[in-house]
Amino acid sequence: MGFSTRQIHAGVRPDPVTGAINTPIYQTTTYVQDSVDEYLAKGYSYSRSANPTVRALEHKLAELEGGADCSCYGTGMAAINAVFMACLSAGDHCIVSDVAYGGTYRLATQVFSRFGVDFSFVDTADSEAVAAALRDNTRLVLTETPANPTLKLTDLRAVSALTREQGILHAVDNTFLTPYYQLPLQLGADLVVHSTTKYFDGHNATVGGAVIAATPELDERLRFVQNATGTIMSPQVAFLTLQGCKTLSVRLQRQSASALAIAEFLEAHPKVARVCYPGLPSFPQAELARSQATGHGAMLWFEVAGGLPAGKQLMDRIRLWTLAENLGSVESLVTHPATMTHADVEEAERHRVGITDGLVRLSVGLEDPEDLIAALDEALS
Ligand SMILES: Cc1ncc(COP(=O)(O)O)c(C=O)c1O
Repeated sequence: MGFSTRQIHAGVRPDPVTGAINTPIYQTTTYVQDSVDEYLAKGYSYSRSANPTVRALEHKLAELEGGADCSCYGTGMAAINAVFMACLSAGDHCIVSDVAYGGTYRLATQVFSRFGVDFSFVDTADSEAVAAALRDNTRLVLTETPANPTLKLTDLRAVSALTREQGILHAVDNTFLTPYYQLPLQLGADLVVHSTTKYFDGHNATVGGAVIAATPELDERLRFVQNATGTIMSPQVAFLTLQGCKTLSVRLQRQSASALAIAEFLEAHPKVARVCYPGLPSFPQAELARSQATGHGAMLWFEVAGGLPAGKQLMDRIRLWTLAENLGSVESLVTHPATMTHADVEEAERHRVGITDGLVRLSVGLEDPEDLIAALDEALS
């Protein structure tokens, strides 16, 4: 069955008691057991271990990504935390894309490094650089592609081949493209991470995360960490995310088409110094973008001629586009990564990986593209 059919029907069935078409919000702490001998006969014991509304979402996401199973978390960061906890111990080494969401960098450098895990931040677009960074104690490579916010791509086939050869794990943050456009497990990865806060929710209503595992054994390791640390998703969040999932493909098609139109408009504008969007012929990794994804998503960035002061003025004054953190929602958002999403990455490191002070990130929503372009045009002039 096609993606749009599965995004609606996978993982859910009418409520067996009432026939309600939507999986209800099972707002419960505990589950009554029939007898000691039949403990867990219905599959549930306590909501830190599993909850039926959350399980419906987990089944849906596992099916959409083509994984064995999925575990959902309170935030995308809790999902990445679970991957680190399930795959790494004191004395281990982990390679992370040198451009990644600022929170991932913060979790590695300010939390896990305190527990004896070593990290290397590597240009994972260059698989030879990944190979060169491998050590005897490397256990995990975490890539983010397209990367937040520069949109640099990692060749998922090449890095997966390398990790397979070494017998180590490859986890991919697939938040920007979602399984509608990119399927990392099919390209050889072992784990897929999501901030469901973004495109799966799509309506700026929740924060949540998910990890889809290629094998039941890996899912079991994650689930153990999740139960031990209690980093679960709530049933209300799962319910709202389930509704968001049903329209993922149509939202992404429309948002991506608008993003391309906006990128083309910006590229032709005399007051714009640089534009980056994977669907533009000028995108440096256009060939790789085509070879591992079926679409280019709805994130782009640009720099205004006149640098940071001109960029700041645009972000402060633009109408219709909302200045806010987050991405992937129906509302179009403008973000300044250097002071917002990536403020915890040291300035020198930010500049080294191309997160310039003048970089303006756009998350294209579902408004009419003509209105979004008119607002940009007005703000630029
Ligand atoms: C690519 C990516 N991964 C993970 C996260 C973290 O997700 P959350 O904010 O849901 O914790 C974000 C947040 O912006 C992100 O952009």
